[in-house]
Amino acid sequence: MNLKGKNAIVTGGGRGLGKAVAVALAKEGVNIGLTGRNEEHLKNTAEELKALGVKASYSVFSIDDETAVQAGIATLANELGGIDILINNAGVGDFGLIADMPSETWEHVIKTNLFGVYYAAKAVYPFLKERGMGDIVNVASTAGLKGGPNMSAYAASKAAVVTLSQSMMAEWRKENIRVITLTPSTIASDMSIQGGLTDGNPNKVLQPEDFAEWVRDILKMNRRAMIASASIFSTNP
Ligand SMILES: NC(=O)c1ccc[n+]([C@@H]2O[C@H](COP(=O)([O-])OP(=O)(O)OC[C@H]3O[C@@H](n4cnc5c(N)ncnc54)[C@H](OP(=O)(O)O)[C@@H]3O)[C@@H](O)[C@H]2O)c1
Repeated sequence: MNLKGKNAIVTGGGRGLGKAVAVALAKEGVNIGLTGRNEEHLKNTAEELKALGVKASYSVFSIDDETAVQAGIATLANELGGIDILINNAGVGDFGLIADMPSETWEHVIKTNLFGVYYAAKAVYPFLKERGMGDIVNVASTAGLKGGPNMSAYAASKAAVVTLSQSMMAEWRKENIRVITLTPSTIASDMSIQGGLTDGNPNKVLQPEDFAEWVRDILKMNRRAMIASASIFSTNP
């Protein structure tokens, strides 16, 4: 499918996996609305995207603030002229033992990773409905399929994203909205490198561009085909 001329919102699009997806989609001619908290990253990324010949705007808000999410998404939809695709990517990785992690940190991870995905999808849905079709890519994690030490908040948040996303799919596919749940393994980024999950070695470890190509190719499939859920791993990290 040709994606040229479509409009995509990429949450957390100023850096990391979100930025890589924004660039890959812009190369296909997709106009991009970026969201995040760091205005400088968003501004610089928007300039890079415009240099690829597409419309790009951004909105600064925290994904755990529903009122701000609704207002920011509405502004971007207005600037771009509607929404066709949501890449629900913004997230945090705070790692630590259950006994040690402050409860406030635990709650912050759940609020960002789970409520953020819920708020963004809920805000975008009316715009997809208006189009009569659309795509939502919810970025969960392999951590949401199996918990482990040091990751209780992150794993719980991502497990909840997996089932939230399944519910979205069940409700919205009838309206020609493809809801895609992705569960990537470790990819080199600020989150994974600062969290000590990988050294990010590009000869061994998945890079943001690999994730971006994967998302792009899933979206390019004929609209009759929906990848409901999928994982991606480094071959031999
Ligand atoms: N890297 C991996 O190994 C891996 C594996 C599986 C899944 N994932 C998932 O992939 C997604 C992207 O991760 P990443 O590796 O690219 O991480 P990252 O480099 O740390 O980037 C996180 C992104 O999320 C945004 N963000 C975080 N908290 C936010 C908030 N409260 N409000 C708005 N935006 C917020 C950040 O934007 P600002 O800085 O502008 O706020 C940034 O763009 C996350 O959902 C993560 O859980 C990553």
